[in-house]
Amino acid sequence: MSQQVNDKQAVAIYAASYVQDGMMIGLGTGSTANYFIEELARKQQDEGLNITTVSSSVVSAIKAQELGLNIIAIEHLSSLDLYVDGADEVSPDLTLLKGRGADLVREKLLANVSHEMIVMIDSSKLVKKIGEKFPVPIEVMPFAWQLVQQSLEKAGGKGGLRLNASGDGLAITSHGCLVLDMTFADNVDAQTINILLNSLPGVVEHGIFFQLASRVLMAKNGLVIEQ
Ligand code: A5P
Repeated sequence: MSQQVNDKQAVAIYAASYVQDGMMIGLGTGSTANYFIEELARKQQDEGLNITTVSSSVVSAIKAQELGLNIIAIEHLSSLDLYVDGADEVSPDLTLLKGRGADLVREKLLANVSHEMIVMIDSSKLVKKIGEKFPVPIEVMPFAWQLVQQSLEKAGGKGGLRLNASGDGLAITSHGCLVLDMTFADNVDAQTINILLNSLPGVVEHGIFFQLASRVLMAKNGLVIEQ
């Protein structure tokens, strides 16, 4: 097991200590979120923790169900105490880049509705500026991708449609949409890109999570530090 995997597990176990009896918990997506789901299931079994969960993706919902967690559909959610998820990048002002998976809409819905969002990362996710390591994922209506791409190119964006895992077709989100992966010039900050993407018709959702994280927990060499 690599150090990075150890750190993901360490931060997930730490994040689970914020979960209290009776809470409605939003489950994230990714390898760190998987460790968190496993820790919740352990606490339920060993410590009698009583919680209900709602998932940000089909993959996490299946995992939660398999481990015996109570899970409700997002359609039935009225309020959320805590949403716990990973991220692809975190900048010093706690802006996040998310969306390497295919469930951006649910992730942002849960982040937005939750009373608190806890983000779990290892040190490789810390960046000075959003977009440093990954392009910004932008989920678009299938018929709108060219117009959205053109608008973003006018703002200095570069990129194109994401391919599927095998590279022989386009990536399709769980809602049947396409994903543009776009990079922007160094002098364009995440807040500016966020405002631009929020205002562009044809954009379903995007991976910049601005002012949504309440707390970022980072693990390094097995130690967890709050950012
Ligand atoms: C899913 O769409 C992403 O936002 C994930 O939260 C992100 O990719 C983190 O994944 P890991 O925990 O596997 O690094």
